[in-house]
Amino acid sequence: MKHFELIEIKEQPNGATYIWLNRPELHNAFNAQLIAELSQCFDALEQNVNTRVVILAGRGKNFSAGADLNWMKAARHFSSEENQQDAMKLATMLHKLAHLRQPTIARVHGAALGGGLGLASACDICIASEKAMFATSEVRLGLAPSTISPYVIRAIGARQASRYFLTAERLSAQQAKAIGLAHEVYSAEALDTGIQQIIEQLLLGSPQAQTASKQLIDTVAEQELTAELMQQTAAHIARLRLGEEAQEGLSAFLEKRTPHWCA
Ligand code: COA
Repeated sequence: MKHFELIEIKEQPNGATYIWLNRPELHNAFNAQLIAELSQCFDALEQNVNTRVVILAGRGKNFSAGADLNWMKAARHFSSEENQQDAMKLATMLHKLAHLRQPTIARVHGAALGGGLGLASACDICIASEKAMFATSEVRLGLAPSTISPYVIRAIGARQASRYFLTAERLSAQQAKAIGLAHEVYSAEALDTGIQQIIEQLLLGSPQAQTASKQLIDTVAEQELTAELMQQTAAHIARLRLGEEAQEGLSAFLEKRTPHWCA
């Protein structure tokens, strides 16, 4: 894996890859460079057959203070086309994260504000320390949670988004769990053990089936159950069960042995 300046990659032998946001002096706020590094890193992980689970974490006191407000402010010197292209880089980075083929976990140990909450929402699973704190603070800065909104609304629903986008209130880890933003809350000391437990569960699943399950959620979420959607879901399983991993998984179960991806 290439060396980056503002992120640090740690690969575990079991296939879990940690991406540490490493700009602690600015609470891991993301500027153009951090966005570009994350994008490149997601592209590389997508191609890496050894990576089974991706964990996004933050060095220092906080997970991420969202967009670097200096970077946001500098946009006023851009042409409208440059401004749009620059904003698209953040939108594209979030899209890459949300559509990585591997399961993703956000490890939120401190503040996750604005785009930081967006990163946590774009991950499949969010595990928080009881010291974590979440907010879409944008309206207090005269902004809106624009590029993160698809992921946040998917995580918490439009009704909760109405409240928190408009009030910019800070949510505790427990409140985040209550509205579905965080899946689990652990004490600061137990956070990494809790994450390891989830990783172990994820490693029991077939990689191809997990990618297919992620695509399934994208296809099915919020859609009306039409005859066409039923045809699509039927086609999904019809295709999957012919695959090598499904055949291996079914054989392993019937033969009372462990499938090869658990080796
Ligand atoms: N972009 C750029 N700089 C940021 C930043 C951001 N998103 N968040 C914090 N900083 C800077 C502060 O301006 C400060 O700079 P300084 O040392 O030059 O004064 C430095 O980081 C330390 O921040 P400070 O507020 O003193 O630290 P804290 O520990 O009291 O609070 C936060 C940390 C993250 C809770 C707080 O800084 C905060 O609320 N930041 C705003 C985050 C936000 O609203 N993001 C949404 C972006 S859309």
